Amino acid sequence: MKIAVYPGSFDPMTNGHLDILKRAASLFDHLIVGVLVNQNKKCLFSPEERVDMINEATHDLENVRVMHFNGLLVDFCDKVGATAVIRGLRAVSDYEYEVQMFAANYKLNPKVETIFLMSQPKYSFLSSSVVKEIAFYGGHIEDMVTPAIAEALKNRMKG
Ligand code: PNS
Repeated sequence: MKIAVYPGSFDPMTNGHLDILKRAASLFDHLIVGVLVNQNKKCLFSPEERVDMINEATHDLENVRVMHFNGLLVDFCDKVGATAVIRGLRAVSDYEYEVQMFAANYKLNPKVETIFLMSQPKYSFLSSSVVKEIAFYGGHIEDMVTPAIAEALKNRMKG
């Protein structure tokens, strides 16, 4: 049984994340989406809200499970029995950060492999931060996130 973890902050999940998630799910028996509970980073949505939003968007994918995690990613992989970590790469600008994270994870546990999937070109500009900024100024986000997430973002910006 091959299990992979797709980790991230997902504050909130974008259509670019969702695309990587679906492609990764087709490559593994099970895909666990790991939502980081990051005390140092100010998130717009709580870990529970972020998990719920991803669950809503992936309910038709039978081999996908969404969980939040604290602490080291390699420990979370160990806990859920995953031997691979999935990361999406959008552009060269992602590379340095991703290599650093890969190197740290590899040092901590070389048995956990990191697999990079290239984002589709149409998502190469897309990030949670960009979506939040556009939503903040009332711009059009409907083709960047799922309808439920667009709704949640608009409501959060109002409040
Ligand atoms: O969506 P993000 O913010 O790019 O995801 C980053 C994430 C969650 C993959 C990364 O911050 C992470 O794995 N954090 C857990 C702590 C950890 O394991 N750190 C060691 C590797 S640098």
